[in-house]
Amino acid sequence: MKLDVKVGEVRANASDALVVFSFEDLDLMQGIAKLAKEERFKGKKGEINIVRAPSGFKCKHILLAGLGKREKADSYTVYGTAGRAAQCARSEEMTSVAFMLPETAGTKIERPAKTVCEGALNALYKFDEFKSKSRGRAEDEDEEEKELARIEVLCPFADDAESMKKDADEARILSESLKFTRDLANYPSNLKRPPELAEKIRREASKAGLGVRIFDEKAMKHMEMNAMLAVGVGSTSPPRLVVLEYGRKAAGKPTLCLVGKGITFDSGGISLKPSKGMDEMKGDMAGAAAVAGAMIALARLKVPLHIVGVMPLCENMPSGSAQRPGDIVKAMNGKTIEVLNTDAEGRMVLADAVAYAEKNYKSDYLVDIATLTGAVSVCFGEHATGLLSNDDKLREAVITAGQAVHERCWALPFWDEYKDMVKSKVADVKNIGSEVGDAGTITAACFVWNFLNEKTKWAHLDIAGTSWMTRDKPFRQSGATGVGVRLLVELARNLTGEDV
Ligand code: BES
Ligand code: MN
Ligand code: ZN
Repeated sequence: MKLDVKVGEVRANASDALVVFSFEDLDLMQGIAKLAKEERFKGKKGEINIVRAPSGFKCKHILLAGLGKREKADSYTVYGTAGRAAQCARSEEMTSVAFMLPETAGTKIERPAKTVCEGALNALYKFDEFKSKSRGRAEDEDEEEKELARIEVLCPFADDAESMKKDADEARILSESLKFTRDLANYPSNLKRPPELAEKIRREASKAGLGVRIFDEKAMKHMEMNAMLAVGVGSTSPPRLVVLEYGRKAAGKPTLCLVGKGITFDSGGISLKPSKGMDEMKGDMAGAAAVAGAMIALARLKVPLHIVGVMPLCENMPSGSAQRPGDIVKAMNGKTIEVLNTDAEGRMVLADAVAYAEKNYKSDYLVDIATLTGAVSVCFGEHATGLLSNDDKLREAVITAGQAVHERCWALPFWDEYKDMVKSKVADVKNIGSEVGDAGTITAACFVWNFLNEKTKWAHLDIAGTSWMTRDKPFRQSGATGVGVRLLVELARNLTGEDV
């Protein structure tokens, strides 16, 4: 896919389709206003109308794209509408499309060039690596879409071209990183067992110039990461700990640790899950995938921070060697865990991953991201990521970043009463709250908190509801959403204290 910024007259653009955004006031350029009226186009949010280009335009079609009420429109409106327009152009077998940027006066729209490019590129994402080409069956051929080959963003004034090119480059980096993350999470579990997944991450991270270290099960034994090892011990494929590093520790420069849950398949272990929907548990490494994608983006964008990404990769399987309910294991930081449910495995791998990060990289900020509890979608559905934090400022920073990229986070209370709910009678902590179903998302976070240093500013993101969508949307294919990539990049940038 080519992505270009083009300076020049709109009418001279010779793409298959010219996308023209419009608010409900239909304040449009000459020639197009009349056309919109004839077509009874209203400019409603999400409305798309394809018409043949009027004379005087070099493009073949005009794609009218509604943004709704001007005062209400924000960046996400543009992101989604650009996505719809791109999908529509592709399904109409167009191969090139040019966007005229929406007017931002009187709106809440920010950085329209970046937003349009990201919206379009992300909407065109497809996971079809495993679909063979059809063999001449007409109905199958109909289903195969031609790919869009070129997206252009039109720049009416030459003076703006440079900053728009920067925006487009940034959008490309972000959308490539997002694609990497979504591909990993959509990948089938038989082809991404921990050692293979570790190599996939290594390959892409090295290309971006990140430092990569991969620890095998022997190294983990040596480091006494027994909680993580216990989760992986039922699988015929051994666990891996992947550590990515970008930048260096320096005075005045904060160290940010990102820790992502990487269960390559979560069967539940001996506390086996019901079979309905179990296939979705291939996405139980979405946290690790988001950390990898975000770090690749941050390195490519050259954000001035010291960032460490820690990804514990394990497969949670039942077998003769699997851990049992009632087992007790000692985590890397010396705390003992009573395993009451082997399906509460995410918090166990996070326990050792967080302890590893704390021990080796004294972080100023630590953010963990995990598909941790079904309870979070009982609470928020697919529309918010559950957030817990021990620091007011960091909590606010996460919420602000989430709003900016429309990966919204909602905070849950982190009170001492909840911390008491994971205390065990026979060990230091137990891996489920007093009863299953009791404040599940909060108690899971409280469990993880036990493995942190007291002074670390910590935020915990539960993405079990937001990382996977079961239905297609007009601007997003179902399956892995890649949630966290854009959020963590935005957050990291804000933590540098400068808008890079
Ligand atoms: N990976 C699951 C959480 C999950 C559920 C993610 C649905 C995505 C969609 C996690 O390991 C899990 O099994 N959690 C249990 C915890 C319980 C045993 C305390 C849950 O939420 O049921
Ligand atoms: Mn589980
Ligand atoms: Zn899990």
